[in-house]
Amino acid sequence: MVPRPIIIDCDPGQDDAVALFLAISSPDELDILGITTVTGNVPLTLTQRNARMMCDIAGRTDIPVFAGCEKPMVREAITAEYIHGNTGIDGVSIFEPDTPLQEKHAVEFIVETLLDAEKHSVTLVPTGPLSNVGTAIEKEPGILQHVKEIVVMGGAMREGGNRSPSAEFNILADPQAAEIMFACGRPITVMGLDVTHQVLSTRERVASIRALENSVAEATAGMLGFFHRYDTKKYGSEGAPLHDPCTIAWLLKPELFQTRLCNLSVETGSELTMGHTAVDFWHVTDRPHNVHWTHAVDADGFFELLTGRLARFGR
Ligand code: RIB
Ligand code: CA
Repeated sequence: MVPRPIIIDCDPGQDDAVALFLAISSPDELDILGITTVTGNVPLTLTQRNARMMCDIAGRTDIPVFAGCEKPMVREAITAEYIHGNTGIDGVSIFEPDTPLQEKHAVEFIVETLLDAEKHSVTLVPTGPLSNVGTAIEKEPGILQHVKEIVVMGGAMREGGNRSPSAEFNILADPQAAEIMFACGRPITVMGLDVTHQVLSTRERVASIRALENSVAEATAGMLGFFHRYDTKKYGSEGAPLHDPCTIAWLLKPELFQTRLCNLSVETGSELTMGHTAVDFWHVTDRPHNVHWTHAVDADGFFELLTGRLARFGR
């Protein structure tokens, strides 16, 4: 099997960090061309540092990490320290990573890498606000013919919003960028809150990860031990939803998930519902079917995959 080339665009964040670990643990399936970072959960200066820290912890200081957009395409930046802590990855000890920050801007990296790639060959995996992706598409629409598909964490339908009553954080943080991406015409699989709220890092599941007794598992358990506080209090759930790792899990084992081809449109006019993802799940309009909306997951199978892959770091 030839590993699939991917670019992970993220805003670590504990859940982004676990997505990075899951991707790094799977070199037979995934060839990480680069990690691009963006202002999201915390400002860019921290998300880029956090991504580089995860590469260090996973023993992959060779992976190129890039800093991208410090702010959204149009709106002012919003962040989420109240969920992720002031570092963005509270639950793990902070250190200055050896993994270098690349000089090139993330948007330049995305554009140049895609233009150099075979047609329909590279998968984009955004797990934060879509500022880098939207800016790259606007700057150079020709990159799209080199994109195989996009697997994105963002949006919500039945779950409602988590940052506003009607909008999920990644989409609300840069709705104009999201609108550009969702209209790009390439295949898009969406991991919204409707599915990510089904994969909860319960105490038992975190204990199983901690029992692996390797540095990556230890960092994961520590971060999840912090990350679950906000969601368990807000939703009364049994653990924090592992939003971003759902994208990588889909790439590794798509049969864990159920999707439906339908239209997703982003609200960019109304302040009341800004960033809302209108998912036409029942095809009640004639809007183009631009996304595969994920609505169900085998949660036990997801954690079996995650735990099994994290165990690889101990070998
Ligand atoms: O709404 C959840 C999403 O926003 C996740 O990607 C989390 O990391 C934050 O970026
Ligand atoms: Ca994220």
